[in-house]
Amino acid sequence: MNPIFAFGSADDLSLVAPLFRSGVATPGRWESRSFPDGESYLRIDDDVRGRSCMLVARLDRPDAKLTRLAFAADTLRELGATHLHMVAPYLPYMRQDERFRPGECVSSRLLARWFGERFDAITTVDPHLHRLPTLSAAFPDVDARAVSSAPALAEWIGANVPGATIVGPDEEAEQWARPVADALGAPLHILDKVRHGDRDVVVSGASAHTPLAGRDVVLIDDIISTGTTLARAAEALRDAGARVRACVCVHALFAPGATETLQRAGIDRIVSTNSALHETNAIDLSDRLSSALEAAIRGR
Ligand code: R5P
Repeated sequence: MNPIFAFGSADDLSLVAPLFRSGVATPGRWESRSFPDGESYLRIDDDVRGRSCMLVARLDRPDAKLTRLAFAADTLRELGATHLHMVAPYLPYMRQDERFRPGECVSSRLLARWFGERFDAITTVDPHLHRLPTLSAAFPDVDARAVSSAPALAEWIGANVPGATIVGPDEEAEQWARPVADALGAPLHILDKVRHGDRDVVVSGASAHTPLAGRDVVLIDDIISTGTTLARAAEALRDAGARVRACVCVHALFAPGATETLQRAGIDRIVSTNSALHETNAIDLSDRLSSALEAAIRGR
């Protein structure tokens, strides 16, 4: 089998470094840069005719990146690539999966169409699935696969905060927090959240869980954006007598002010996976992501 050409920035390609070591993939050669006026320039330097290619991109702050991705995917097709696999450890826009107010863009649907038109396969990590049950339901036009970060999160928590109770800040977080708690054999509590605005959420439900008093807890969520969800959750837990030992998230988006919001809530240990580059990255996904990709590639 010819190795798959994997295109991406050096930082992004490090997520699939195990595939280079095993010979399943090889870094693709391209020039991807901006013209002085900000428009994108792209040139593919490999002969991709008849070959499978992979694009690897961290898609936090996605808008400019999506333009480059479209240029790359469409150019690879024009040059004869036969199979395109998108590796996006964070899938953006998944939270806007409904027209909550009249006239809104359902951006997750639009993104699914956008990917469906360009790629044969997509692999991501813990996509934000709420009203749609599976990634395939959200992305019906591609071979869509979701890798779970739960074993990696559990490994970090087991090594750094052994014996902690796992807490999810809202109903959706149960899908990420439960497998972590199960892997650790730890108790799990899910709080209740009501969102009134981007930086206005109310979290309750901690006082009802009397066993939380006096416990060490680790809060888990898929995304830290403004930090408000985890800040309010940490405050509710502290009011209930728990000790919040760490906040662990999969995708560290960190909107401006998020770190300060978390610090003001007394959270001093925040860790994340490297699905989006951030100073809190402490959990490397490359082995798990690469194993899943290798299985998908060999299974084709
Ligand atoms: C929402 O449902 C997600 O799971 C996260 O809880 C949310 O995106 C976190 O956003 P923020 O940090 O702005 O509260």
